[in-house]
Amino acid sequence: MKKPKIYITRRLPDEVVEPYKNQLDIEMWDKEEEPVEHSVLLEKVRSADGLLTMLTDPVDEDVFMEGQHLRIVANMAVGYDNVDVSAAHKHGVAVTNTPDVLTDTTADLTFALLMSSARRLLEANHSIQRNEWNNWSPLWLAGSDVHHKTIGIVGMGRIGKALAKRAKGFDMRVLYHNRSRDEEAEENLGAVYMEFYELLKFADFVVCLTPLSDETYHMFDKEAFERMRNTAIFINASRGATVDEKALYHAVNNSEIAGAGLDVFEEEPIGSDHPLLSLPQVLCLPHIGSATVETRSNMMRMCFDNLIHFFEGKPLISPVNK
Ligand code: DGY
Repeated sequence: MKKPKIYITRRLPDEVVEPYKNQLDIEMWDKEEEPVEHSVLLEKVRSADGLLTMLTDPVDEDVFMEGQHLRIVANMAVGYDNVDVSAAHKHGVAVTNTPDVLTDTTADLTFALLMSSARRLLEANHSIQRNEWNNWSPLWLAGSDVHHKTIGIVGMGRIGKALAKRAKGFDMRVLYHNRSRDEEAEENLGAVYMEFYELLKFADFVVCLTPLSDETYHMFDKEAFERMRNTAIFINASRGATVDEKALYHAVNNSEIAGAGLDVFEEEPIGSDHPLLSLPQVLCLPHIGSATVETRSNMMRMCFDNLIHFFEGKPLISPVNK
């Protein structure tokens, strides 16, 4: 039988891809660090039965229009805001993502971002690099405690719950806001549900983990930052567009909040001239939430396994559209 033709929008490691070549006819974009050009994707999708895409690829109506044989898009991320799921549905194309395999890794990074922001780790490292460690002094680089503080998690999904577990280990009080209440989080983690503005008022650390959607676009706006404590630190490990970055800049620059730790940005990638990088109280990372070798490899394998399941007529492991 003819093998299904799969186009992969990034160069993936041979050791991950090789075992799947028995079942799939695989072609890859040849660059590991650069996204496929949209025009190339539009050309390649014409002959593809399936796509394996990255969160950097806009998989839009044009892709589905060109992909006359396209039947499945396996997106290598838990977030799939880069895929026009309603267009996929209209064209009868299945979409899958990579939940679960990245939960703990992303929660680790989110907590690391929180710890590093609170304890000013990056500033401390830079100060040594600039030869500023001339003396120990009582309040030099003093940050804020994490243990016994209050964390407010906005978006109590899998990663939110894994983060709450970590926070519990630091004796933190856990508040959360979600579209719906989560009994499991309340019973097992002692998390307390609050309305969004109420959570902002009480949290020492406000952590955004909510998926990006029309409802959550710029959810963290001027008013949201005004509602936070002046001592609060804002963390975002979800998607950049949940935040109005101008409002965040204003809030930090005017000491309405104490600082921020960001793994994601409205327009990625950002360059060294991004205004938020000019604020010492803001720690910026280049979207590395799930970036460990183990987890990224597992995410790749999960995409392949979804593709194989689909073409073998088995239930998908992680469908995002039914
Ligand atoms: C995801 O999978 O959506 C994460 O943002 C990747 O780090």
